[in-house]
Amino acid sequence: MALHIVRHPLVEDVLAALRARVTPCDVFRQLARRATRDLALAETWVETPLERAAVKRLGSRVVAVPVLRAGLGMLDAFLELVPSAQVGYFGLERNEETAVARRYYEKVPKDLEGAVVFLLDPMLATGGSAAMAIDGLRGLGAKQVRLLSIVAAPEGVAHLEKVAPDSLIFTAALDRALNDKKYILPGLGDFGDRLFGT
Ligand code: PRP
Ligand code: URA
Repeated sequence: MALHIVRHPLVEDVLAALRARVTPCDVFRQLARRATRDLALAETWVETPLERAAVKRLGSRVVAVPVLRAGLGMLDAFLELVPSAQVGYFGLERNEETAVARRYYEKVPKDLEGAVVFLLDPMLATGGSAAMAIDGLRGLGAKQVRLLSIVAAPEGVAHLEKVAPDSLIFTAALDRALNDKKYILPGLGDFGDRLFGT
């Protein structure tokens, strides 16, 4: 499994603001740019007004799958970058006592086999939610899954290394650890609650 920690002065600056308040778009745009820059291209032809020209287009369909709820905060920025992306949804919720995720909803495009699937979830804590989503996407045929998170804990990265070693993780920060309630330290609190004011 490859872990990419996206280091960039603008990412550091926005991350500082993000830890204090919810402004996910800027930091996420940088991450999404980094995570999409090696997408494979396919050669094809188009007719310009003057002649036939060789061009390159994305070689695979791109599917964005935000994890409800917090991943919704990353979707607009992703679609700005890849307007042609199809969108699916995974509804996952951690139990407040046990921190174990439960899958309560899913709706994803058909034929994931040939697509590059970007799983959008800002927080990678125990890794239970991401592992469940990746497993679900694999079960639906996805071969290539890239997780875009904003803050990751070492425990979550280690868990994905174990259960989904061929997935790619892009994150803006690898934080210190989890607390006894499985929240990331220093982290930024409960992303979904802060994003939606609950
Ligand atoms: C948060 C977050 C991840 C999950 C990460 O969602 O958005 O999905 O926790 O934790 P894990 O790595 O330990 O599984 P939460 O379950 O709080 O749901 P919400 O977005 O609806 O608030
Ligand atoms: N989910 C969050 O939103 N924040 C954490 O720190 C851990 C899980």
